[in-house]
Amino acid sequence: MTPTFIYGTAWKKEATAELVKKAVKAGFNAIDTANQPRHYNETLVGEALNALAGDGISRDSIFLQTKFTPLNGHDSRVPYDPGQSLTNQVHESFASSLRHLNTDRLDSYLLHGPYSYPGLGEEDAEVWTAIEEIHKSGKTRMIGISNVNATQLAMLVKNARIAPMVVQNRCYAVRGWDRDVREICRMKGIIYQGFSLLTANPDVVRHPAVAQIAKRVGVCPEQVIFRFAMQVGMVPLTGTTNEEHMKEDLRANSIELSREEVNLIDSIAG
Ligand SMILES: NC(=O)c1ccc[n+]([C@@H]2O[C@H](COP(=O)([O-])OP(=O)(O)OC[C@H]3O[C@@H](n4cnc5c(N)ncnc54)[C@H](OP(=O)(O)O)[C@@H]3O)[C@@H](O)[C@H]2O)c1
Repeated sequence: MTPTFIYGTAWKKEATAELVKKAVKAGFNAIDTANQPRHYNETLVGEALNALAGDGISRDSIFLQTKFTPLNGHDSRVPYDPGQSLTNQVHESFASSLRHLNTDRLDSYLLHGPYSYPGLGEEDAEVWTAIEEIHKSGKTRMIGISNVNATQLAMLVKNARIAPMVVQNRCYAVRGWDRDVREICRMKGIIYQGFSLLTANPDVVRHPAVAQIAKRVGVCPEQVIFRFAMQVGMVPLTGTTNEEHMKEDLRANSIELSREEVNLIDSIAG
């Protein structure tokens, strides 16, 4: 199952389990987390999945994605021994993710961000090889990378034995909604997941042209932005903490913008 909309669990702290349960009951069938205690609580995602299974919503019906976070993305709560090799860090982090999430397999496992910039370096190559090994073991269906630029993604696609199947990036309208990275994804059949679609683009959300489209369709501007993202080929993430907004966001699955409307939104800050 490849989701069309993902519920993100960053910054939910102690409310993580409750919000994951609410999101799934509202209709989300895909959950994003990370083994990064600074911003996420994987253990509480696991608790929510257990509770949902008890309510008859099986693990199999939910697309589950988590991430390996390099050391510089952590505070003092590092979920692996930073003194060991990068390969072992990945394997240890992955094993603890499975324990936290009470599962024996993931749908998608991402490298949270490259070590090198603006291209990729030796550390990225070592970590990607470890992630490929996890994929080969059958414990994750898809592998991918987050927070990449077009140069990094092109290098990974060229050099990897197993190319990324997923990219997850913050999406700024002023940067053409990440057009360069999305174009590589389109050409290579990589799923593009976009986050911060609302929070990174407040001027677009409030733009009069978006308000007019929202009025025509009979929805709110936030739904228009999520639908725009879907129609240009993204799988959006939302991190809403509000039950009404969960339902509103999901309605983006069932509205339709015209090609002219999509082009108009595309051009607002482009
Ligand atoms: N890979 C990475 O490095 C990375 C980085 C950041 C995030 N992420 C992932 O992406 C997920 C989402 O993060 P995000 O930055 O896109 O979102 P977010 O920061 O969680 O924010 C969503 C914001 O939009 C508002 N919102 C959502 N639906 C709305 C609606 N229908 N009407 C009005 N306001 C609405 C929410 O407010 P309410 O709560 O009031 O609805 C909230 O303020 C994260 O949880 C995480 O899983 C990944």
